[in-house]
Amino acid sequence: MATTKDYRLGEFTFPRGWFMIADAQELNTHKPLAVRFFGKDFALYRGRATGKIVLLDAYCPHMKTHLAAPNTTSYVVIDGGGSNVEGDSIRCPYHAWRFGADGKCDDIPYHDGPIPAAACVKSWTVVESLGGIFVWYDPEGGDPQWAHPSLPQWDDSAWVRGHWDHLGELRQHPQEVVDNIVDYGHLGPIHGSTVDRYENEFRGHMATQRQCGGHRTLTSADGGSAVLHTDTTYHGPGVLISMLTGMFETVLMITHTPIDDGLIKVWHTLIVKSPFNNTQVTSADLVAARQYQESSRLAFCQDFEVWTNKAPCLSGLFIPSDGPFMKARMWYRQFFNPRAQQQEYLDQCEGVYVPKGAIAYSQPA
Ligand code: FES
Ligand SMILES: [Fe+2]
Repeated sequence: MATTKDYRLGEFTFPRGWFMIADAQELNTHKPLAVRFFGKDFALYRGRATGKIVLLDAYCPHMKTHLAAPNTTSYVVIDGGGSNVEGDSIRCPYHAWRFGADGKCDDIPYHDGPIPAAACVKSWTVVESLGGIFVWYDPEGGDPQWAHPSLPQWDDSAWVRGHWDHLGELRQHPQEVVDNIVDYGHLGPIHGSTVDRYENEFRGHMATQRQCGGHRTLTSADGGSAVLHTDTTYHGPGVLISMLTGMFETVLMITHTPIDDGLIKVWHTLIVKSPFNNTQVTSADLVAARQYQESSRLAFCQDFEVWTNKAPCLSGLFIPSDGPFMKARMWYRQFFNPRAQQQEYLDQCEGVYVPKGAIAYSQPA
């Protein structure tokens, strides 16, 4: 397993950005969830009062009890009907100190005096969007630098919302996954694509790949299109959104989040425009969209299988006909370094790139 340091990405171990930390369905009960990301433990829960999502540092400042680890024996949990979430607050199972959504202790049942100011945990900026829970992570503690991921298609009745496929943990540094955005050479051998036109573009916090051509699994000879167009963008380091026009008009999302340095968690979903062109999706639309999501998941698993077993690519043997790996890695570095240095990395990567011998996507066919 290789680390951020091994890839020489910058001063921070984990990158700045929006990251998925849970499938919203995991918070359908009132039980808090113990989650671990960025080398830290957290307590994640949905407030009972407002439904608001709250993410707190996990350990109670009193004596370091985990606020959200599974507990079935404390009377705090038993008396709470199997949960220690109260309103939008959470009560520690050990001595029953209670913390609000802002992370401040607001009740110590056996104490009359003022609550010590130090009795608080950090509360993180989280949003519920696209059926997922996303956190803004910033090693410098700054406010979000760009808007959290959202899509109008999610709320459009003509589109089928997918479920999140939990692809599990991958013992690789996220660099290996981010490399995929420029990996022109793997599209044929891994995915069965016959690429007609291809290009990458880096602008600010976004890295884009545009390509079109045939595809063995995501196009159809009858009915749908025989050509697959994909317009795929990393919105920051951990959220990939791809607009697909092939068998169906689709938005694909792949999210990955560091758990520890060199270990990530990965999710995948699709939103599919009604395959039968309905304005309100029907059960037939649902069936077709679910099948398409499964094809897309299997296409992504083609990458995943290689990543599961490969050694870290700390310095590749790249050739001019490969995609712009070094530019992508330069783009990725902006998130591992102070914001004040961001432009230095962008100056070295912003632009449009076409692999040697390929035809640019933006060139008319
Ligand atoms: S350890 Fe949390 S209240 Fe004592
Ligand atoms: Fe791929």
